[in-house]
Amino acid sequence: TWTTAAFVEQSVREIRAKVGDKRVLLALSGGVDSSTLAFLLHRAIEDQLTCMFIDQGFMRKYEPERLVKLFHEQFHIPVEYVNARDRFLQAIAGVTDPEEKRRRIGHEFIRVFEEESRKLGPFDYLAQGTLYPDVIESADTNVDPKTGERVAVKIKSHHNVGGLPKDLRFKLIEPLRKLFKDEVRKVGRSIGLPEEIVNRHPFPGPGLAIRILGEVTDERLDILRDADLIVRQEINRHEMYGELWQAFAVLLPIRSVGVMGDQRTYAYPIVLRFVKSEDGMTADWARVPYDLLELISNRIVNEVSGVNRVVYDITSKPPGTIEWE
Ligand code: XMP
Repeated sequence: TWTTAAFVEQSVREIRAKVGDKRVLLALSGGVDSSTLAFLLHRAIEDQLTCMFIDQGFMRKYEPERLVKLFHEQFHIPVEYVNARDRFLQAIAGVTDPEEKRRRIGHEFIRVFEEESRKLGPFDYLAQGTLYPDVIESADTNVDPKTGERVAVKIKSHHNVGGLPKDLRFKLIEPLRKLFKDEVRKVGRSIGLPEEIVNRHPFPGPGLAIRILGEVTDERLDILRDADLIVRQEINRHEMYGELWQAFAVLLPIRSVGVMGDQRTYAYPIVLRFVKSEDGMTADWARVPYDLLELISNRIVNEVSGVNRVVYDITSKPPGTIEWE
């Protein structure tokens, strides 16, 4: 029978046997897969592992700090924190087209990954949180005909862009390749990952940048992060997190008229996008209580300056996608 303890023990043995005295690079994303992977590798090979976290500046409020802190304080795993916020913002300055935005963020990710891995390296292996369903698809890997080993030709990030240059074609180590998502969650929980990572809602690679329609600026990012934090707090407080596939805020780059006290306002609207889904392929807008919507709306308008209106998205998928870009 499969147990998490037996899995951890066997993985550690296999990792040691495969890696020997070589060095491994892991790019942390903040999700359960890469976090679990970091734990297993660190237990197996300690400082032969380098964990790198690239902060694009598009994560949710406090998430990058929390992740680094968790790894340092709870797991004693050092993290190479790469602050690339300015670079990413620069890369999409003035861009309004959704696909162009995604493309530029993906390419910038590859560039930063290459630069930083050269600085920290050389590395022999790249660790990836490939799960069993991905092994079958596997468009981002090649199999070396001589050794039969899987080799990374692309970085499997949630960006799906960018071939790696020849000298950075790492051999892969994929300790989660026999697991399904629910099994990774069990392992993650058993090694002490907090629920906020184990059960994290899906979060797109380009992050908040595709939840700000039109141009992404520092000001808009600040507004969206604050609105998004209120959404998360209230969804958690009302114990709705587990019931929903996703619940997030979107900022629209238009302004409408409102009134606050006896002052006329002219500010951005925030869209609330709460959906239920089994797999993300189709989704239903969530029928959450009006009182919860009212509470979130009041808090956002009162606490987030720059916002004077909150609307609820009642479009299912199809025809709407879950994300707005
Ligand atoms: P859509 O918006 O296409 O999203 O209905 C379906 C699911 O996929 C997530 N999503 C992404 N996940 N990288 C990811 O890892 C991405 O670029 C990306 N875009 C969308 C979305 O949050 C939803 O769960």
